Amino acid sequence: MKHFISIHDITGEEFQQLMDLALKLKKETKAGIAHPVLKGKTLGMIFTKSSTRTRISFEVGMYQLGGHPMFLSANDMQLGRGESIYDTANVMSRFVDGIMIRTYAHQDVLDLAKYGTVPVINGLTDLLHPCQAMADLMTVYEHKGALKGLKLAYVGDGNNVAHSLLYACAKAGMDMSVATPAGYTCNEEIVANAKMDAKATGSNIVITNDPVEAVQGADVVCTDTWVSMGQEAEKAERIKIFKDYQVNAQLFGKAKEDAIFIHCLPAYRGYEVTEEIIDGPRSVIFDEAENRLHAQKAVMAMLMAGEK
Ligand code: CP
Ligand code: NVA
Repeated sequence: MKHFISIHDITGEEFQQLMDLALKLKKETKAGIAHPVLKGKTLGMIFTKSSTRTRISFEVGMYQLGGHPMFLSANDMQLGRGESIYDTANVMSRFVDGIMIRTYAHQDVLDLAKYGTVPVINGLTDLLHPCQAMADLMTVYEHKGALKGLKLAYVGDGNNVAHSLLYACAKAGMDMSVATPAGYTCNEEIVANAKMDAKATGSNIVITNDPVEAVQGADVVCTDTWVSMGQEAEKAERIKIFKDYQVNAQLFGKAKEDAIFIHCLPAYRGYEVTEEIIDGPRSVIFDEAENRLHAQKAVMAMLMAGEK
């Protein structure tokens, strides 16, 4: 594993290693056991978009691994004034030991990895959010004791979060049903790739416009904002289009009785999910947020220290 850009690119074995390492690191951290495998190393963290969880969890995670996290706002970098990804990748590779980037165009992340010589971690693009999906499935595992054979239902926008969950569920052998309004469905190529991976693990991927069909019998119900970063101008229109895709008590009631609710956050209560559900007893959103830290520490330790 040279980079962590898409869960589709990693093997099933690497996926499992990451999951195991994340669980181990979490246990160790809770027990006060230090794990300074990145001592003397620096992670450059480029942000073109806002962030609470990603920034904090990467900074804390890097610190806990003994390394140095360097926050770089794209606005304050020459990148924001038009310096190329090619030059940025080459220059940064001379200074830092790894780069985490959150940005709009997925191609920019691929180019950073192509032109640079250090590992690149995708901290969210318009297309994918792989660190989130690792934390999500880690959370599911903790609450359900397994992944294989479970069903995750995603209701809402066919966005970056949905895409990475498709890849993660397919690798983990979990069934996943995605319900979106027509015209907001997942990227076709990603669905095709996920179905290919699902074939190998024996899981089932269903794409539908019917939220009830998706949630029926689910072990995990997930949604995300209807208005992702960069789509602010479409907000009013999207709220109208997505109104029947809200995760509320009625829809959640179609899932298994012991189903859990996950949401990557930030959440907009009253839109994609009601307060009753997101703040209710089946919601595990703060475990999920915490697991960003542990999952990303595993990613960094594997990529930057060769840990398995
Ligand atoms: N879930 C997530 O990535 O949150 P932030 O945008 O706050 O980083
Ligand atoms: N889909 C959301 C996720 C935020 C963490 C976005 O891209 O804005």
